[in-house]
Amino acid sequence: MIERTLVLVKPSGVARGLVGEVISRMERRGLTIKVARMLIVTPDMAVRHYAEHKGKDFYEELVEHITSAPIFAMVVEGPSAVKIVRGMMGAANPLEADPGTVRGDFGLDMRRNVVHSADSLASAEREIAIFFPEGGELTV
Ligand code: CDP
Ligand code: MG
Repeated sequence: MIERTLVLVKPSGVARGLVGEVISRMERRGLTIKVARMLIVTPDMAVRHYAEHKGKDFYEELVEHITSAPIFAMVVEGPSAVKIVRGMMGAANPLEADPGTVRGDFGLDMRRNVVHSADSLASAEREIAIFFPEGGELTV
């Protein structure tokens, strides 16, 4: 099934100049970048985005990081895009991220693990609405 998912290059990835690398990997895989923007995440957006993690010990730091500097947000489309992209990004924990994944190749710090991608179709749609309030489609 053709799906769309949300991918963020986090402040850690933008600061390290990895936006092109992340885009390039997804393009070479055959996925399509539908729409993209660079932005600074507001505290309100961060709270909505990370709602599932509220109360966890890493939550405050996570919100602080995602709001600290520009991110690069994308809607990415392709067959089984949610699972394909999650696989390409790798495990959040650098000890478990396989080589060949973005996090396995560029991450060492779990708080600053370069990228985010939605973990289900429902999360993808919920998250797309946060970063692309106009709907995540190209408009003229
Ligand atoms: O990003 P992903 O969906 O793979 O992982 P998550 O479990 O949903 O956690 C969201 C983010 O919180 C991760 O990408 C990490 O940056 C961060 N995190 C953390 O700093 N410490 C943890 N113990 C778990 C997650
Ligand atoms: Mg997650």
